Amino acid sequence: MTRRKFVAANWKMNGLRADLPEIEGIAAAAAAHDGVDVAVCVPFTLIEAAARVAPGLPIGAQDCHDADWGAHTGCVAAPMLVEAGARTVIVGHSERRGDQNETSQDAWGKAAAAHRHGLNVILCCGETEAERDAGRAERVVQAQIEKSVPDDAAARWFTLAYEPRWAIGTGRTPTLEEISSIHAIARAKLRQLVGDEARGIRILYGGSVTGANAGAILSAPDVDGALVGGASLTAAKFVPIIEAAA
Ligand code: G3P
Repeated sequence: MTRRKFVAANWKMNGLRADLPEIEGIAAAAAAHDGVDVAVCVPFTLIEAAARVAPGLPIGAQDCHDADWGAHTGCVAAPMLVEAGARTVIVGHSERRGDQNETSQDAWGKAAAAHRHGLNVILCCGETEAERDAGRAERVVQAQIEKSVPDDAAARWFTLAYEPRWAIGTGRTPTLEEISSIHAIARAKLRQLVGDEARGIRILYGGSVTGANAGAILSAPDVDGALVGGASLTAAKFVPIIEAAA
């Protein structure tokens, strides 16, 4: 089955209104490459403005609550993201797992809430360096998928992102063989959970993707795109990654 490549930007805790021209630049490149899907996940505070300056570009958030409303100080619910103009949301990112002690079970609830409100979901998984060194990378990723992927996950709204924690922001990446091997294992696990639908679900790689290594990573077997942090913050850095995917 052919899966369209998907390149998503994760701006993390970066971005002010002064950075909106970068979103416009990314939107222009995305429009010029219609063979690849592009999304930009910005801080909550930028969603509405980003959606306004780039109406054709799917704008996303980086988290949502698993409840639709209520007494949860500082949290944002999926319907609020929809109202602000978001079309997608990242859940289960390792920085949320690390900084906010989020679990795979939490990610499951967030993915389900996002889907209830019509958002697309990018759900992250990935091992720590210690887990990889201990030969446990595959089992860790399988367990994360098992606990966090909703059993109605479908290709039209659900994307998995494999982000080894030790590769995030470090300039280090796994070998192409290691990436493809985890992606194949992840797809096999998805198949156990959602059956044939797994064939269409895209699996992105994330962790120190740049314009320089994107071509090789995106051509590796079973890699359907990239989730990009640092190299997504400017159009100058991110557009070459979109081009590599096209
Ligand atoms: O979600 C993207 C990510 O965690 C990778 O970050 O900066 O290594 O591309 P970076």
